[in-house]
Amino acid sequence: MKHQLMISYEEYDSINDLPSIDVRLLSDAMAATDGAYAPYSGFHVGVALLLGDGITVKGSNQENVAYPSGLCAERTAIFAASAQRPEMRSYIALAIVGRNSDGVYCEASPCGACRQVLVEYERNQGHPMRVLCYLANGRVRVFEKASDLLPFSFDF
Ligand code: THU
Repeated sequence: MKHQLMISYEEYDSINDLPSIDVRLLSDAMAATDGAYAPYSGFHVGVALLLGDGITVKGSNQENVAYPSGLCAERTAIFAASAQRPEMRSYIALAIVGRNSDGVYCEASPCGACRQVLVEYERNQGHPMRVLCYLANGRVRVFEKASDLLPFSFDF
């Protein structure tokens, strides 16, 4: 039997078309790119993660000369939040922004490994985690839940 999957997402032409809470989260993600340690790729990624109590945790990519030892901004943010606030493992929304070597904000879409991690925290909390991806020129793509980014994620 043939099956079909459909995911939906929204795209906005300008950050300013989003609700103010999302505008703030995206601007925190832009600021978070300053924390990136990316001497090898020159690609700075910033994440802002909104917790259930309204606190925002920032993350950024942390690279290493032994390349696979580095970590993406998304996992840096969610692991930091989980480790520092284990009593508050409630994640409302996560915003992601890239900044290229010319200093221009650009698209960053979570890699497969980060999607797997986001999906597990979302599943554990029992409510959706919105994912906001900055695109080029101020446009934004919004997924209502992290699991939309990774159907058939691993579990056992
Ligand atoms: N990177 C992230 O931090 N998040 C993503 O969503 C994709 C890629 C990082 C990993 C590496 O430090 C750099 O971007 C270039 O791949």
